[in-house]
Amino acid sequence: MNNDRHLANITLIGFMGTGKTSVGRLVADQLRFEYLDTDEIIQSGTGRSITDIFETDGEPTFRLLEQQVVKDLAGRKQTVIATGGGLPVNPENLVSLKAHSLVVCLWSSPEKIWERVRHQSHRPLLHDGHPQAKIRELLAAREPFYKQADVLLNTDLRSLREVAQQVVHQFRLEAAGRR
Ligand code: S3P
Repeated sequence: MNNDRHLANITLIGFMGTGKTSVGRLVADQLRFEYLDTDEIIQSGTGRSITDIFETDGEPTFRLLEQQVVKDLAGRKQTVIATGGGLPVNPENLVSLKAHSLVVCLWSSPEKIWERVRHQSHRPLLHDGHPQAKIRELLAAREPFYKQADVLLNTDLRSLREVAQQVVHQFRLEAAGRR
């Protein structure tokens, strides 16, 4: 990793249902960092749900809002940032986040993702006649973007607590290497 980077924050990227929110909260508690979630910032800023934005204005509008949130995060310190699953597909977002964060990708198999999201209804991209096929298709298309993270953690065989522990460990290692 480029040693000039200043790692003030941790950003979690990864597909829907990989545990970014739960892991992010655990990591923030452990490090006494603030916790932020890009979807929550969009929802509180617009006063609308993600589903409503997708259905009324379309995905491109949502992606613009997402990009603006990423830009606004630039001055942050001691923050764990959980991101929406499609956010790293815009290369500008990853460049911007890497300028101040250790970027960690939580990775899961499509089967595990399906197990975790099948009883949830708040994700418009999975309001599809064939959600399992949609997961496979989107995950394959996004894999090259997710793999640009600094750290890739497979969450299939680890508990949320173990994943959080790994994130903290990697952050401490990287931050110590830069002092
Ligand atoms: C999306 C993931 C969602 C949310 C929106 C789009 C995606 O966030 O940003 O529904 O494109 O994968 P989570 O990954 O937190 O579910």
